Amino acid sequence: MQVRKQVLSSLSEWKALEEEHRRIEKISMKEMFQREPNRFEDFSISLDNFFLDYSKNCIEEKTLSLLFKLGEACGLKEAISSMFSGEKINITEDRSVLHTALRNLSDRPVYVEGKDVMPAVRSVLEKMKEFSDKVRSGEWKGSTGEAITDIVNIGIGGSDLGPRMVTEALKKYQKPGLNCHFVSNIDGTDLTETLNKVEASTTLFIISSKTFTTQETITNALSARRWLINKLGPSSVSRHFVAISTNRKAVEDFGIDPANMFEFWDWVGGRYSLWSSIGLSICLSIGFENFKHLLEGAFRMDEHFRTRPFSENIPIIMGLLGIWYYNFFHADALAILPYDQYLSNLPAYLQQADMESNGKGVTKEGERIVSYKTGPILFGAAGTNGQHSFYQLLHQGTHFIPCDFIVPANSLNELGEHHNILLSNVIGQTEALMMGKSREEVISEGFKGSLIEHKVFEGNRPSNTIIVERFSPYYLGMLLAMYEHKIFVQGVIWDINSFDQMGVELGKKLAKEILPELKGEEPIKHPIIKKIIEMRRRDDDKGYSS
Ligand code: F6P
Repeated sequence: MQVRKQVLSSLSEWKALEEEHRRIEKISMKEMFQREPNRFEDFSISLDNFFLDYSKNCIEEKTLSLLFKLGEACGLKEAISSMFSGEKINITEDRSVLHTALRNLSDRPVYVEGKDVMPAVRSVLEKMKEFSDKVRSGEWKGSTGEAITDIVNIGIGGSDLGPRMVTEALKKYQKPGLNCHFVSNIDGTDLTETLNKVEASTTLFIISSKTFTTQETITNALSARRWLINKLGPSSVSRHFVAISTNRKAVEDFGIDPANMFEFWDWVGGRYSLWSSIGLSICLSIGFENFKHLLEGAFRMDEHFRTRPFSENIPIIMGLLGIWYYNFFHADALAILPYDQYLSNLPAYLQQADMESNGKGVTKEGERIVSYKTGPILFGAAGTNGQHSFYQLLHQGTHFIPCDFIVPANSLNELGEHHNILLSNVIGQTEALMMGKSREEVISEGFKGSLIEHKVFEGNRPSNTIIVERFSPYYLGMLLAMYEHKIFVQGVIWDINSFDQMGVELGKKLAKEILPELKGEEPIKHPIIKKIIEMRRRDDDKGYSS
C-alpha cells in the first residue's frame, strides 16, 4: 500500500484546483456552451452502447486536466493496479478487494496470498448454474415432491440490496412462475407479510450472510425455519433451505447441509457481493446465462477502468467530477435519478455502496480528516416521480446538488409515446438545471413585482446523463461496475479505506446490551424503555394488541 506523505489539501494539485474553482465560479455553463460549439462531443464518452454525457458540468478542459493531475498525485493509477492484482488494500481488515475477480472472464489468474482464486470462483459459478437450472426446470423438488415457485432471500445490507435491486431491474428477463421475495428487516412485519404470500411446500429460502452472524438475518432465518417445520416437519429443511456465506461452520451449526451451501470469500466486500454466490437469487430469477451477461457487462467496465487513460476513463471522470463538487463547490449530496421504473431500487443500493464505503473520517494512515469532506449524502428516486417531489429543491433550493440522470434509449415496455415523454423529461430537467431562467426572461413573460424573484431559476446546476441502449443484464452490469469504480476513485483521492464499515458496530453492540432490559431480564436503566413499557400496557388496555 502506498503511504500518503502529505495531507490531501496541502498538495499543490489541490491548491491549483482551489484557484481553478475561483475562476470557474465566474463562468456559467450557459456561457461555456455558447463559447464551445463542440462541448457535447468534447465532454462525452461511449463504451459499446453505454454513453456518458458530462458536458453539463461546471468544467472546462483545464479543470479536467487539473483533476487528472490530482488523481496522478494521489497515486490513482497505482491504486487501481493494486486492487486488481489482489494486494491487501483493505488495510484495517488485512484483506484483498477482489469483486473484480468474480467477473474476470479472461484467462488471467488472480492471486491472493500466492494462490490463484479463479478456479474456486469458476467452481462456485458452476454450482450456481447447476442448482439454478435444477430449480428453474422443476427438477429440484420440495419435501412434498412439488417444484419451487417462490424464492425468499433472507439477508440484509449487501446480502440484500444488490440482489433485490438487480432482480427488480431485470424483471423483464424473469422466469414466469418463479417469484422472488426479499426479507431483510428485523421488524417481524417483513417476514410475516412475505410468508403470508407463499406456500411452504413450494418455497425455497436462501439465507444470505457473509458472516452468518448478523442478528437480523439469523433471527429471520430461525423464524422462517420454525414456520417451515410447523408446516412440513423437521426433515423438510434440507429441501427448502440453502445458505450463502463465507462461514461454513456457522452454516452447519444453523442446520443447513454444507452440500446446500454456496461459498464466497473474505476478499468480497458485502456491498460488492452481488456478483458472487450472493447473486444466487438473481441467477434463479433470470437464469445463469443472463447472470453471466451481467458479469460480462461488469467485466467490460473493469477492463475499461483498468486500462484506459484518465481522459477516456468513465469511472475516473465520474469520480473526479464528484471530488470537484464535494471538495471545491462544497456540495454535500448527490442525487441518483434513474429514469426507468425497473431501477427504482438503484438509489437505495447505491446508498450502501457509496455511503458505507466512503462515509469515513480517518485517513488510511489513521489521521483524522479535518480539512476536506469525504463521501456525499446520496438520495434519489425513479423519474419522473421525483420531479413531483424533491426536484423543487434541486432547481431552486439553497443547496447545490449534482445529479446523475440514468435512462435507457429503448424501453423494455414500449407503450405509445410513454418513452419519448420520459426521455424528453430527462433532457428537459438537465437543461433546466443547467440553463435556469433569468430575471429578464421572467419579466419578458409579463410577471411583475415580488413574483418575479419566485419565478427565477439560478441555473448552473450540474448533471451527468448516462444513456444505455436498454437495460439488459449486460448494460446493468456495466452501470453497477461503473459506480463501484467511481466510489473507489474517490476513496483513493480522499486517502480512506473504502472497504471496511466500522461505523456500523457501535449501535449494534448497544442494541445487544439493551435487549435484556426490554425482555425483562435485567433492571431497566433507560428511561425511554420505562416509557415504552408503560405505553405497551396502555395499548393492551384498549385491546389493540391482537
Ligand atoms: O451493516 C454492516 C454490514 O456488515 C454490511 O456491510 C453488510 O452488507 C451487512 O452488514 C450484512 O452482513 P452479512 O452479509 O455478514 O450478514
